[in-house]
Amino acid sequence: MSVRRTKIVATLGPASNSPEMLEQLILAGLDVARLNFSHGTPDEHKARAKLVRDIAAKHGRFVALLGDLQGPKIRIAKFANKRIELKIGDRFTFSTSHPLTEGTQEVVGIDYPDLVKDCGVGDELLLDDGRVVMRVETATADALHCVVLIGGPLSDHKGINRRGGGLTAPALTEKDKADITLAAEMEVDYLAVSFPRDAADMEYARQLRDEAGGTAWLVAKIERAEAVADDETLDALIKASDAVMVARGDLGVEIGDAELVGIQKKIILHARRHNKAVIVATQMMESMIQNPMPTRAEVSDVANAVLDYTDAVMLSAESAAGAYPLEAVQAMARICVGAEKHPTSKTSSHRIGKTFESCDQSIALAAMYTANHFPGVKAIIALTESGYTPLIMSRIRSSVPIYAFSPHRETQARAAMFRGVYTVPFDPASLPPEQVSQAAIDELLKRGVVEKGDWVILTKGDSYHTIGGTNGMKILHVGDKMV
Ligand code: G6P
Repeated sequence: MSVRRTKIVATLGPASNSPEMLEQLILAGLDVARLNFSHGTPDEHKARAKLVRDIAAKHGRFVALLGDLQGPKIRIAKFANKRIELKIGDRFTFSTSHPLTEGTQEVVGIDYPDLVKDCGVGDELLLDDGRVVMRVETATADALHCVVLIGGPLSDHKGINRRGGGLTAPALTEKDKADITLAAEMEVDYLAVSFPRDAADMEYARQLRDEAGGTAWLVAKIERAEAVADDETLDALIKASDAVMVARGDLGVEIGDAELVGIQKKIILHARRHNKAVIVATQMMESMIQNPMPTRAEVSDVANAVLDYTDAVMLSAESAAGAYPLEAVQAMARICVGAEKHPTSKTSSHRIGKTFESCDQSIALAAMYTANHFPGVKAIIALTESGYTPLIMSRIRSSVPIYAFSPHRETQARAAMFRGVYTVPFDPASLPPEQVSQAAIDELLKRGVVEKGDWVILTKGDSYHTIGGTNGMKILHVGDKMV
């Protein structure tokens, strides 16, 4: 069977919390476990994280933990009778002065006062991910009076978006700030920031992460219309992050479903060009919440993201709350492998016309050029401190596996998210220099990845523990005496 290159992120929740189910998910190919900080207590998250790490270690697997901050999702308050039913043409009001638990058929409270300032007459508001749509008819200091354009049920705490974006809530709430500290304590490998508007939001998150003593790589969830309004904003946001997520739920609501696929392709392309990892998320296997097999449309959606060369595809409710979490991971793994056979995911345009920015980047890219054009190359070994060298390598399309050789836990876990990158624990500093190449090859021989007569590329630096220090590449012939 071919080795899958695209990585799988699965959200943990009631459907996947038991040690037995978690173990099955990890064995089925889970690479990154997403902990949703919108639900659950700190103790629950810590227990779940420990379980993931313990089970992964038991099987010699590397599974990264991704903590996902709740962010400033704007929600309506509650109804006196939990839910109402709205019809086209109904009048409905959002009020910042209405009691928060007393919503009626005509009005509901909201505890985000700026909604009234941010919206004006003629704006469209989308509720519950766009299932109900209204247009603002009149606005006062404390209320928006609307007419219903698309009716349906509306219940407690459903989210509100404005078509076209533009709600001004800052990305990090007080809860998020507390969760950044929690994430640092838990040593999560990735931390996802919800609803960042621009690079400044990510820089602020980075500052808070540093103050909390965290080392997690920051993932910008791209889910606001203003984040993708122009290339300049998008690129600045990507550059201010370590990875990005195409968060299609809110993004699709704000920019409209017709724009979504094109924007997804653009975000993946730009993230890769800026040397960042990228995840495609939301509703990838939605029907598998209730069914043991995906629809053809879902198969096609996952495959499309794989062909776009995403690093990872993600499961949300399918693995957190669905009836078939294991089947969902298995289906995703199968579809990834199938789509990866398609030639577009093996060839690279090699950044023609681009200049390289540093020595280590140049070596990483030279290694990929060689791997893709020298037929006997079966594997690439990147000795890495932080994971940067294999990250850069995996920005280039290839069918040659990239092995991140590192002695550090954080790096081993982090690399689990990079497409085509696999981890091998290895400390070159513990060996005499003349034995490093052979010892590295031995690790691949042990795993059955290479055999006598194969070629392997190895990259490293002059010193054995310097981030950014990679300055050399060797082409090694398996079976020959190495120095
Ligand atoms: C390992 C190697 C070093 C190299 C470094 C690069 O530590 O032993 O020789 O300089 O990786 O690490 P990086 O984090 O830049 O991929």
